[in-house]
Amino acid sequence: MNATQPASEEPVLILGGGLMGLAIAHQLARRGLAVTVLSRRRSEAAGFVAAGMLAPHAEGLSGSLLSLGQRSLERVPSWVAQIEADSGLPCGLRTTGIVVPFRSPEERDHYPTAAFGAPLNRDQLLQEVPGLGPDWRAGLLFAQDGQIDNRRQLMRALESACVDRGVLFQEGVEVQELLRENDQLKAVRTRNAEGRITTQPCSKAVLCSGAWSAQLLPELPIFPVKGQMLSLQTPRGALRRVIFGPGIYMVPREDGLVVVGATSEREAGFSEGLTPHGQTTLKEGIAALLPEAVNWPPMERWWGFRPCTPDESPLLGASPIHGLWLACGHHRNGVLLAAITAELLSKLVTNTTALSNPEQSLLDHFRWDRF
Ligand code: GLY
Repeated sequence: MNATQPASEEPVLILGGGLMGLAIAHQLARRGLAVTVLSRRRSEAAGFVAAGMLAPHAEGLSGSLLSLGQRSLERVPSWVAQIEADSGLPCGLRTTGIVVPFRSPEERDHYPTAAFGAPLNRDQLLQEVPGLGPDWRAGLLFAQDGQIDNRRQLMRALESACVDRGVLFQEGVEVQELLRENDQLKAVRTRNAEGRITTQPCSKAVLCSGAWSAQLLPELPIFPVKGQMLSLQTPRGALRRVIFGPGIYMVPREDGLVVVGATSEREAGFSEGLTPHGQTTLKEGIAALLPEAVNWPPMERWWGFRPCTPDESPLLGASPIHGLWLACGHHRNGVLLAAITAELLSKLVTNTTALSNPEQSLLDHFRWDRF
């Protein structure tokens, strides 16, 4: 279908054109709202950087973050189906399962999510991941975890689905200030690529500016954690499962590309670029995990900034400003959490479908003022 926005309706502004912004814009538009996405520089969005693991169990999440991740994982297939139906484009969802290797069975059995995985001994581990390095004596297989090709497919499909649903985009536009009166959002001040400053009236907005969110709302305890990554070309099918090792992980795409991540650099701030130390860390991680992969040709190298909070969990829901909602701080789990974030935030913003009690109590764990 092709929709256009009613000319008179004030749009909900989505502050950030990354994965979270697009996912929320799409759900709001599906619910019939006029939506405009303001995006400074799409290429810096973590949605174009992440490896796309859907891994609440393999990443060893716990507590309310695990619950949020599990709920999102359940929703991913229907969410992807909506995006694919609206866009006509594939998202690259694969239920490859994820293997987590350990140095000993004891280490394996103490993993926070061990109860959700199938325990593997060394022989079983080698059946799942032939060629795994000699240090790995035990493992867990999380068959329910998977991956999606966020960089090459999901982001493009989601953007197309948004356009199809009538979402408008302002690209190259930086939101410089949130203008409020008595703590009610009234407008946003923006600067476009030519330097023109504009005040756009706005009474409803969602802040999803990733690692940069605190630049707009300094009350938010969000800071960047840099990650450097690379991809390798392999013979198709050389790696069947995602491997989530200590230090690095390897995510095999359908066409033989393997995405390798990632450094986790808290001291780097917003310093851009690859570093020799970061690249060496990845190379050593590959050699320890899957020695033969050091001979696979590298294809591309890149970096980005995870939006982190003190407890490494997102900020979701209300903000200190009425009319402004938060969907930021997803740290390592943005791709996994996009589906549930978009669902919950679109319910909050439209305010026509009440949140269920379990949804509300789950959201309460992710209030911005919990620290
Ligand atoms: N979820 C993987 C990472 O953030 O590196």
